[in-house]
Amino acid sequence: MPTDIVIDMGSKKTVLYSNNRVLLMQPSVVTVDADTGEPLYFGDKAFLTVGRTPDTLTPVFPIAHGVIADYDIAESMLKTYMEKVFGNRVVKPRAIITLPSGLTEMQHHSVSDLAESAGGRNASTIESSLACALAVGIDFKKPQGAMIIDIGAGVTDVATISMGGISQCSNINIAGNDFDQSIVKYVKRKYKILIGTATAEKIKIAIGSATRHEFEIALTAKGRHISSGLPTTFEMTSLEIYDAIKDQLSEIFNGIKKVLQNTPPDIVGDIMNTGIYLTGGSAKLRGLDEYLQRALGTKVIVPEKPELTAVKGAALALKQPGLLKNNDFFYRSVQKLKIDLE
Ligand SMILES: Nc1ncnc2c1ncn2[C@@H]1O[C@H](COP(=O)(O)OP(=O)(O)OP(=O)(O)O)[C@@H](O)[C@H]1O
Ligand SMILES: [Mg+2]
Repeated sequence: MPTDIVIDMGSKKTVLYSNNRVLLMQPSVVTVDADTGEPLYFGDKAFLTVGRTPDTLTPVFPIAHGVIADYDIAESMLKTYMEKVFGNRVVKPRAIITLPSGLTEMQHHSVSDLAESAGGRNASTIESSLACALAVGIDFKKPQGAMIIDIGAGVTDVATISMGGISQCSNINIAGNDFDQSIVKYVKRKYKILIGTATAEKIKIAIGSATRHEFEIALTAKGRHISSGLPTTFEMTSLEIYDAIKDQLSEIFNGIKKVLQNTPPDIVGDIMNTGIYLTGGSAKLRGLDEYLQRALGTKVIVPEKPELTAVKGAALALKQPGLLKNNDFFYRSVQKLKIDLE
């Protein structure tokens, strides 16, 4: 039984990770009783109810844009997941939680509290960008600049890093969920057909593209016609997905550009030499690395299983707690944050 645990509560999925293994991966969603607010179903079971709930049930996504939007529901969700993995074990696991960059100390503190009340011990926090940098092998003892772009479901977290600290960062509230919603809108506008976000996500994963490719892929999907209200099928191509999401891609690009513009030139120089790391589940969108590579004029590297890069790095940080104890201009570390209320 593991004694250490990495917790990643993302907008889409929650991961519990230890000893190079995913112990649990479940959607970050809870179905609650609409009258009493009592949580009824968690994770996979709750996800099945999304878009299908009767009026008496409400699906709640307690994490929005990478941060806790509903503390109580997030706590009961994490508690349920921790119990699934650890049962009622007496000795609690030491916990580290990944968070987007640039949050306040109060937010770090409240997430640590939540993890402890959900069954973790000595909870500390780490920014996903620093965790990802560790996972891809950036040496925190050297003044070597790096850039991490983590595109998840609810947030794109962009950070430049040197010597174990964050130089510049920005959270752009556009990511995979927004691509799904754009596909829903596109299909409604162009074909007058209604689809849910779950179908849109499936289409995106199957044929989605961040570039105009010479060869298009097409897929037939099911929806409901707006005027007749009847089920119908339609064909969609990868080029259409590109059209649906291209404005959002350029907003993400603009956000990345701003972070680079505010980063000291020496760090930017290092980044140009070594390349930019692209992580998060949306890094798997076909051609996204190519799109960013062209737009930024710098090599873009996607690690294997980019949706797990942050948890892998956080596990390394938990083993070497001294690593992030830095230093002049960096403002956050893996140490447990203390808040002086006076
Ligand atoms: N092959 C794929 N192509 C495109 N998108 C993908 C693919 N696989 C997963 N995704 C998208 O990745 C997103 C989930 O990524 P991830 O697991 O990193 O999110 P998260 O950590 O839960 O969210 P966040 O970090 O934004 O809070 C979803 O929007 C999903 O649709
Ligand atoms: Mg994430």
